[in-house]
Order: sequence, then structure tokens, then C-alpha cells
Amino acid sequence: MKNIVILISGRGSNMEAIVRAGIPGARICAVLSNRADAAGLVFAREHGIETGVIDHRQYPTREAFDDALRQEIDRYATDLVVLAGFMRILTPGFTRHYEGRMLNIHPSLLPAFTGLHTHQRAIDAGCKLAGCTVHFVTAELDHGPIVAQAAVPVLANDDEASLAARVLAEEHRLYPQVIGWFAADRLVWHDGRVNLNQDAGASAALISPRA
Ligand code: GRF
Repeated sequence: MKNIVILISGRGSNMEAIVRAGIPGARICAVLSNRADAAGLVFAREHGIETGVIDHRQYPTREAFDDALRQEIDRYATDLVVLAGFMRILTPGFTRHYEGRMLNIHPSLLPAFTGLHTHQRAIDAGCKLAGCTVHFVTAELDHGPIVAQAAVPVLANDDEASLAARVLAEEHRLYPQVIGWFAADRLVWHDGRVNLNQDAGASAALISPRA
């Protein structure tokens, strides 16, 4: 059984999808937030999951905040940290501590469109495909090894909201699937890349995996 702690800052719909998925081999120990008003905390509490708030405004430096967060996470003998809309830039010391055991979901097909406003930027660039990426977290924002991606079409009449909704539906499917792979020890590192164990055919391009 893998102990999992999920970090959120707001709505928490990805966290909700992960909890609702009931992933075999994964125990959701806690949902932590840097914001007391994160809507997702309500869902977590209603589902009997421990919650915690570590308010970044109470700490003088990023390092001090990350230290407090790390202590809270490590209380659960955590095997995997799941960033799900956690809107803080993390220090290199923090990302190093969780190397190979911290995932993030980003709403673009990385390495395109790191950072914010990904959907509008994909529309503005005339992209015909958009999507989401689950990757391991490294010190460089939105740059860690890619585990899986899901792609959706960008339609001619899309605006930011309609594209975001189409991508989000894929996020809710993809993230629990990847966490399931982690829980089943199916993610294999090779030369700084991540492949899927016992499923060699799926490793090259995990576009909309249905495994
Ligand atoms: C998602 O689009 C995710 O890809 C990004 O932040 C958003 C979080 O949404 N990192 P939610 O809080 O999971 O609903």
C-alpha cells in the first residue's frame, strides 16, 4: 500500500477524481493546502480524509514554508506527493527531497506552454491539439520527466473555458490512472525518462492511454 498526500490550492477537482477513483494500492492519507479557503478541503473532510492548512503567508521565506510543508507531509510516511492545482513555486531543496515521488498535472502538452494561461495560449497559437501532462516534479517548473499525456482537439469555436473543460475531463481520467501505475510499481526510470513496466508498447507515446 502506498501512502499518498495530495496538495491543493483551490477547487480540487483533480483531488476529487483521485479520491473517487478508489485506486487499488493507494491510501489517500491527507489533503493539504496553502489556503484555508480552498474549496477542495470541504470535499476531503466530508470523505473522512485528514486535511491540513499550511498558510504560506505565515512564513518569512519560501524555504521556511517548504520546510513546514515537508514536515507535515512526512508525518504520513508518504510514498507519493500529488500536486493537484497547488499554486506555489517549490524550492530546489523541497523538490530534491521528493525526487521520483512527487507528481504534478499540467494543463498542456508539455514541453509546450509551461506556466499559466495554457488554454488561451494554445488557442492563440492556432494549435489543433491541446491536452494535459502528468510529470514527475523537478526543480525547474513544469519540466520534470513526463509520465503520460492525454490529447484533445482544439475546435474552431473554442474559447478558454470550453477548451479548459475538455482538457479537465481528461485530467480527471489520466491522473488517477498514473497514480494507479505508481501504486502498482509500474513506472520505470531509464535515462531520466519514465516508462511503463510490462507494457512496452505504451511507453513511447501515451496519448489518451486506455490501459
Ligand atoms: C488543473 O487544470 C491542473 O491541471 C492545474 O491546475 C488546475 C487545478 O484544478 N495544475 P483543480 O483544483 O484540480 O480543480
